[in-house]
Amino acid sequence: MDDLLNVSNISISFTQYVQGLNQHVLKVISDLSLSVKEGEVVAILGSSGSGKSLLAHAILGILPENGNCEGDIVFKGEVLSQERKEQLRGKEICLIPQSVNFLDPLMKVGEQAIGDVPKEEREEAFKKQRDVFSKYGLSEEVDDLYPFELSGGMARKVLLSTALLSNPELVVADEPTPGLDSQSVKETIKDIKQMAQDGKGVLLITHEIDVALKTADRIAIFYSGYVIEINKTENFNDVNNLLHPYTKSLIEALPRNGFKLTEGVQPLDDVDGCPYFENCPIRDDFCKNNIPSLIEHDGVMIRCHKYNGEVE
Ligand SMILES: Nc1ncnc2c1ncn2[C@@H]1O[C@H](COP(=O)(O)OP(=O)(O)OP(=O)(O)O)[C@@H](O)[C@H]1O
Ligand SMILES: [Mg+2]
Repeated sequence: MDDLLNVSNISISFTQYVQGLNQHVLKVISDLSLSVKEGEVVAILGSSGSGKSLLAHAILGILPENGNCEGDIVFKGEVLSQERKEQLRGKEICLIPQSVNFLDPLMKVGEQAIGDVPKEEREEAFKKQRDVFSKYGLSEEVDDLYPFELSGGMARKVLLSTALLSNPELVVADEPTPGLDSQSVKETIKDIKQMAQDGKGVLLITHEIDVALKTADRIAIFYSGYVIEINKTENFNDVNNLLHPYTKSLIEALPRNGFKLTEGVQPLDDVDGCPYFENCPIRDDFCKNNIPSLIEHDGVMIRCHKYNGEVE
C-alpha cells in the first residue's frame, strides 16, 4: 500500500543563548525517518523528552519560532511547505494535541468541536458532534461549557472528538489516552482502529505500551531524538524478535515480563557516537564515536552497529 506520510531524515534543533551572547545549538531530533501507510496505525514509543511531540508539531507545521527543522515531510507524495501544512491542518491532517491548552479558551466546546462549517450544514454538524460526544460520555450540558470548566479527562475527550469530526486522512494523536477512564480508553482504541480500517493513517504517540500493542500495526521506538527501531507489533510479543537492546529492555521492564528495570538516562545533547552507548550491554569501542545508520527493509528499521542480521 502507498505511503500516506513519509518523514524523511528530519532533524530539529534549537538555537539557545548561553552566558550572554554565546550561541548553543541544541539538537533534539536527529536524522529521523518513518512512514505511515494508508490504513495503518504506527505507534511511537519513547520516554519523556525524546522528541515525540516535536515530531508531531513538525508534521503539522507548528514548531516554535526558534526551532529549526531540516529534512522533508511528504504527504501523499508531496513535499509539504509551511504554507501547504497550514492549508492541510485541521482538514486532511489533524492533530490530537498532548496539551489541552490547544482548546480555544473563549469558545464553548461544542461549537469549537464542529469548527468552521457553512450555515446550512451547522444543524447536521451539531448532530454529529452530539453523537461523538455522547459516545465518550460527554452529556449535553458539556456542549455549552468553556474549556476552563472541564476536567482534564473531559478536555481530552473533546480534543479527540474534534479530530474525529474533521474526518482527516491522517491523524497525529499525541498521547490521546492519559487521564481517561478505562471505557474511554477502549473507545479511543476502537476509533483509532476504525480510522485505519477506513483507509486513514494514524500516527499514535504514547507512553502506554499496552495501548500501542493493542492498536498499532508497527511500533517506532524513539531514543534521545533518534528512531532506533521500527518493528511489526506482533514481534513485540517475543523479546527475541526485537532487534535493538533498548527495545528489548523496554519490553523486559513490563511487569508481565519480570519487571527488569532499564538503567540510565538518555543523553540530553548531541553525542558523537551511538546515543545508547552509555547504557548498552553489547557496546564496543567503535560504538562510542560512530553514529549507526538506520538500516531499513520493508518498513522494519534498526539503528545499531552490533546488528548484523537481515531485516526480515
Ligand atoms: N522551544 C524549545 N526550546 C528548546 N528546547 C525545546 C523546546 N521545545 C522542546 N524542547 C526540548 O526538546 C526535547 C523534546 O521535546 P518533546 O516535547 O518533543 O518531548 P516528548 O518526547 O514529547 O516528551 P513527553 O513524553 O514528555 O511529552 C526536550 O528535551 C525538550 O526540552
Ligand atoms: Mg510530548
